[in-house]
Amino acid sequence: MSPPVISRKMFDMAGPLLSVVNLTQHFDARTKGLFGSRAKIHAVDDVSFEISPGETLSIVGESGCGKSTIARAILRLTKITSGQIVLDGVRIDDASVGALRPKRRRMQVVFQDPFSSLNPRMKVGQILAEPIRNFGLAKDRKDMKARILRLLDAVKLPAGAADRLPHEFSGGQRQRIGIARALATEPDLIICDEAVSALDVSVKAQIVNLLQDLQAEFGLALLFISHDLAIVEHLTHRVAVMYLGKIVEIGPKASIFQGAQHPYTQALLSAVPVPDPEAPRQRRILKGDVPSPLNPPSGCRFHTRCPVAIDRCKAEIPELLPSGSGHYVACHLAPQNGSQSLRQN
Ligand SMILES: Nc1ncnc2c1ncn2[C@@H]1O[C@H](COP(=O)(O)OP(=O)(O)O)[C@@H](O)[C@H]1O
Ligand code: SF4
Ligand SMILES: [Mg+2]
Repeated sequence: MSPPVISRKMFDMAGPLLSVVNLTQHFDARTKGLFGSRAKIHAVDDVSFEISPGETLSIVGESGCGKSTIARAILRLTKITSGQIVLDGVRIDDASVGALRPKRRRMQVVFQDPFSSLNPRMKVGQILAEPIRNFGLAKDRKDMKARILRLLDAVKLPAGAADRLPHEFSGGQRQRIGIARALATEPDLIICDEAVSALDVSVKAQIVNLLQDLQAEFGLALLFISHDLAIVEHLTHRVAVMYLGKIVEIGPKASIFQGAQHPYTQALLSAVPVPDPEAPRQRRILKGDVPSPLNPPSGCRFHTRCPVAIDRCKAEIPELLPSGSGHYVACHLAPQNGSQSLRQN
């Protein structure tokens, strides 16, 4: 097993459950670049964050900004280009399959489309039994049955669900099955990758409430990946905002939703409906499209669309610097860089 690379003393007393350190993930593009060399897709570049036990961190950003790539890297579904993934002080990105196994049990994932990830020919009871059996968690048949019933109860499905097939359930119920399957290995962290994005509004709220109940009951940490900021605001503790493979701002929920400093975060938030019609947010439409990750802009990757960009932005990559308690911003014009506030309200 790899040695611990990060001392727990570097962090708060409890220590993070998961640390992602300078994660970079490039993919070979199908097309060849200049001089016949393989072009690289810069899906994720130098991303670092931590999740504490029992905490929810949300990653937000437009489609293609690298959210799922981070999830897949943590789950070791891809071989990362560079960086480290550390679970409970132990590196897992370079761990052997044998060393990874007990760690893998502690991280589970719920995807957007529960139907595609549930075997249509397996009854729900068998679907839930599979991970329990894989990790040898049940003492005997009686324990297996009790575990399956407890899982169904935890996600508020009736015991009879165990004998039915996935297609007999609604979208929301299937997502409950997906969550029960994730819980089966008694994880510490569940990664929800757009897990509620395909659901109707009322069902979405039910599943979000269920996730919050489960978090309280089992002390689960959640990495909640979503492009839906209204949902994120409802359930998260902290938020990381991504643009074109990089975190541009990260901080506690209140400091992001009420005190966003990065022009991209401000633009994203301006599109979120507010409940109070007396205080509408001024919508800020960004010019142009997100540039290609095959050839990301120099300096600040947001400079081609930023309404307040200056010359320096084209040349120099802004560092993610502290800007208040637990709040970090990557922008040359952020107050910690000697500038006046960026807010343009
Ligand atoms: N296996 C892969 N091979 C090549 N490119 C990929 C691969 N996975 C993701 N990408 C590219 O990486 C970028 C980030 O993708 P992704 O992480 O899925 O974004 P998001 O989840 O934020 O929508 C996109 O440009 C996507 O096309
Ligand atoms: S660094 Fe420059 S381009 Fe990037 S967000 Fe800040 S002002 Fe805009
Ligand atoms: Mg995705």
